[in-house]
Amino acid sequence: MSNTERTLSIIKPDAVERNLFEKITDILKKNNLKIEKNKKLQISKEEAAEFYKEHQSKPFYEKLCNYLSSGPIIVMELSGENAISRYREIMGATDPKKAGNNTIRNLYGVSIDKNSVHGSDSSSSAERELNFFFKN
Ligand code: CMP
Repeated sequence: MSNTERTLSIIKPDAVERNLFEKITDILKKNNLKIEKNKKLQISKEEAAEFYKEHQSKPFYEKLCNYLSSGPIIVMELSGENAISRYREIMGATDPKKAGNNTIRNLYGVSIDKNSVHGSDSSSSAERELNFFFKN
């Protein structure tokens, strides 16, 4: 049975700054993840705090919000078969040092903070996060 899903991808400031958009989107296309929408923008620290509110009790929350708002990002709506879990596999582990070979974070991530990309971790997060950036 097919299970087409939509998920949110963010190309974070470190990767936008290094012009990695095409390299990252080539990997997505090769893995049959379709880019339905995309836009480049810079968000405020307050918007980053709202986006990442599930992490508000974590020690790295403030740093995380400062970082996501520190420069332009590219947000994308991806679609495809089991897109949520497949995109997470393609990104690799949160810490680039632990990410599997040829995953996006293994190839391009700099550190656990500057890990180049974000992806929704569940269908409820995907719905919330897509709505956050692409509300009509
Ligand atoms: P992301 O998938 O965007 O979700 C939350 C982010 O917090 C994560 O990627 C990391 O970039 C960042 N982060 C910083 N420190 C940690 C940590 N110790 N554990 C998990 N995430 C961290």
